[in-house]
Amino acid sequence: MLSKWTLLSLLAIPLLPAQESPMAGAPSGLRCEYLADPVGIDVPQPRLSWVLEHSARGERQTAYQVLVSLKPEAAAGDQWDSGKVPSGQSVHVVYAGKLLTSGQSYYWKVRYWDSGDRPSPYSAAARFETGLFESAEWKGKWIAGANQIRKEFTLRARPVRARAYVAGLGYYELRINGHKVGDRVLDPAWTTYDKRVLYAVYDITDRLRPGDNAVGVMLGEGWFKSRALRMQIHAELEGGQTVDVATDEAWKTMPGPIQSDSVYDGEVYDARRETPGWERAGFDDALWKAASLIDGPKGVLSAQMMPPIRVVDTIAPVKLTTTRPGVYIYDLGQNISGVVEMRVRGPRGTRVQLRHAELLYDDGTLNVENLRAAKATDVYILRGDGSLEVYQPRFTYHGFRYVELTGYPGTPKFDTLRAKVVHSDVRPTGGFTSSKQILNQIQRNIVWGIQDNLTGIPTDCNQRDERMGWLADAHLYAETAMLNFDMPAFYTNFLRDIHDVQGADGTVTDTVPHRYGSRPADPAWGMAYPLLTWYMYEYYGDRRILEQHYDGVKAWTDYLRTRSRDGILDYSYYGDWVPIEKTPGSLVSTFCYYWSADLVSRMALFLGKSNDAETYRKLADEIKDAFNARFLNAATGLYGTGTQTAQILPLFLNMVPGNRRGGVFGSLRDDLVYTRNTHLTTGILGTKYLFPLLTGAGDSDLAYELATQTTYPSWGYMVENGATTLWELWQNKTGPSMNSHNHPMFGSVGAWFYNALAGINLDPAKPGFERVVIAPQVVRDLKWASGSLDTIRGTVASSWSRSDNGLRLEVTIPVGSQAQVRIPELDLAPATLSESGRAIWKDTKYQAGTSGITGVRESGGVLAVDVGSGNYVFALTRD
Ligand code: BGC
Repeated sequence: MLSKWTLLSLLAIPLLPAQESPMAGAPSGLRCEYLADPVGIDVPQPRLSWVLEHSARGERQTAYQVLVSLKPEAAAGDQWDSGKVPSGQSVHVVYAGKLLTSGQSYYWKVRYWDSGDRPSPYSAAARFETGLFESAEWKGKWIAGANQIRKEFTLRARPVRARAYVAGLGYYELRINGHKVGDRVLDPAWTTYDKRVLYAVYDITDRLRPGDNAVGVMLGEGWFKSRALRMQIHAELEGGQTVDVATDEAWKTMPGPIQSDSVYDGEVYDARRETPGWERAGFDDALWKAASLIDGPKGVLSAQMMPPIRVVDTIAPVKLTTTRPGVYIYDLGQNISGVVEMRVRGPRGTRVQLRHAELLYDDGTLNVENLRAAKATDVYILRGDGSLEVYQPRFTYHGFRYVELTGYPGTPKFDTLRAKVVHSDVRPTGGFTSSKQILNQIQRNIVWGIQDNLTGIPTDCNQRDERMGWLADAHLYAETAMLNFDMPAFYTNFLRDIHDVQGADGTVTDTVPHRYGSRPADPAWGMAYPLLTWYMYEYYGDRRILEQHYDGVKAWTDYLRTRSRDGILDYSYYGDWVPIEKTPGSLVSTFCYYWSADLVSRMALFLGKSNDAETYRKLADEIKDAFNARFLNAATGLYGTGTQTAQILPLFLNMVPGNRRGGVFGSLRDDLVYTRNTHLTTGILGTKYLFPLLTGAGDSDLAYELATQTTYPSWGYMVENGATTLWELWQNKTGPSMNSHNHPMFGSVGAWFYNALAGINLDPAKPGFERVVIAPQVVRDLKWASGSLDTIRGTVASSWSRSDNGLRLEVTIPVGSQAQVRIPELDLAPATLSESGRAIWKDTKYQAGTSGITGVRESGGVLAVDVGSGNYVFALTRD
């Protein structure tokens, strides 16, 4: 007999329009090696991923079919027809068709079968294009000469397909027949040039024409500190002929208008030295010199398989003031990375200067003290031909909020300057907002701080004479970056960068590429190697990354072992950097040594290397024992000197002996709440792990109070003092010392906004958000919070709001994923939980069915609801 609830749920089933049967939609979001329609990939067996669409809840893929073809329709599957593969795998499906060849466009599409074996329609065709797999395929030679290089060539017929392969160091701008090609700036990304040089592939079919053509390349010093070019053009013409144009000594060079350029110091551009028409055919280059062949960097050429740096946004100044006659200060209202575009008309030879800074003095003049040696000054010298001149520097960028304009002919106006926001063009993947304004402002500062520091590598800061890939900074804000931006291709490249600096002895360096700091890295800096590898696995389910870096991560851990004595790692340079209270370096280093060993063991387990898994598990256990023996004071029950960080680190990794844990946690809590009046004293490491630690221990209220604190030291204190990004120091400093105002490392707290407040968590057992845990923390005065994230499987979202009478929670889970939704019962009991209007808990026994919900149970003040994919609206209401 049907129970009342079965009957009701049967009646309630048509959440879908009547009669319509569940439909598997065409897969969307097709990616090849994490990139949408990439041009220039040099992975011989690229991985393909797609996002499943379905009109019914709780759906999944039971089989897929991929077709790869040389023809745009992709229908033929002439390169690969996978056939119907019974598998739930929709990410990282390894291409297994015919051998890929260089410089070839491939088109692909995919369909899938759902739980009822119903096939979806095919996706729209996506494409990927290969770069050059073999170094012998590089016909171009490394050439140099001046900062302008040109070449003319003739095509006897219309080009039907043409590509340019370009490696231009430090930076290049490619121009063909009078126009810039593509929208990349500050390209290529900085690498360890003697290991790897990145190149770009451009589709230039539409740029070429039958007859005479010209290519012109401008070169900047960038991080290479010199200039060199290696490129080639390959054109297929109507009628089948092909033409190759490659760099050699027949290319011609001449210094151009850029008099000097430097990442730190800025650019001097003399428009009188322009050579109009130089990137067009027919230009008289009789006075130009032949390019010289050079050895070039030793590194292999490698396709740049990540979002390039672009002008991502243009913003208008919000304020214009004059400090002295002829000195104008523009305020953008936001600390950015980029350059300004200036409009000017005036006499020939007029020298206009733009200086950039993060800060002003009280009298409104520019304060450049914290830029240290970086001059951050661009100079433009007018052509003065009566026309409007528009200048935007090419081969530099600045970290700034204020611009000082001097030497301007006439009176500049608001629209004389516009700022161009420049950084790696990683797609924003969602967002976090809440009812608490200070949190929203902190989130905004974090997002700006991170994007300002993604310039091919993750940098520490964007303004002073540094801008390095300091490894601690990199791993500390990586999770926050992964929750706000589409980061996997970027970090895939950066892990190769780390691998590129690794020595035969296993050492990595403090900065990558290595310019500042030491080899070996501080253990807390080198931690980036195991951690970023592991995050790639957790966030994107990337097994290949684990395979590729396993040996490197293990070698780094083995190196630490050679430096340890009786399980203790004593060497440390920075430790828990920039804290209020300093924690012993050896404690921090030994914690990192433990964690490295622990991660190697986990990676080994996952990769099926059971011997290693056991060896490193034992090593980790030994380190843990040594750590406790050395740093846990039996009398006080505290670690180290009693600092917050000294307690946080071992608590976070569960290193504290069971009988001690309560005491250590209690002391930490007392210090935070009573001794410090709800403030932290932590440096960059302690700060990151404090928040998940508190939430894991059921004390999200305290974490929230710390995160929303507005007095020193706190993020809110930065905001109250005008910060639009994150500071390097908790202190508000502005002098010539180390005090960057755009340093994203304390942005680690941003991950906690998503994890705890919005409640979006991955489950490392089913990485890449195949299993999601939605566990919002309904804290203190927070009325609502909302987060969403485009994962590689599709969108995960969680939004909640509460009233006196209940809690409402909306959740979105991608097709093919599962989730546990943990709804706090609050103090609403007795209460009823319903979903889309149907009671699903309390005197109701939940009926599993088409609605995607597979179970509900109560445990420890939380209602745990197991769901499949789909959108859910839960309401917990007081009875
Ligand atoms: C950087 C840091 C870096 C540190 C190493 C600083 O100059 O800006 O963020 O991690 O040096 O101690």
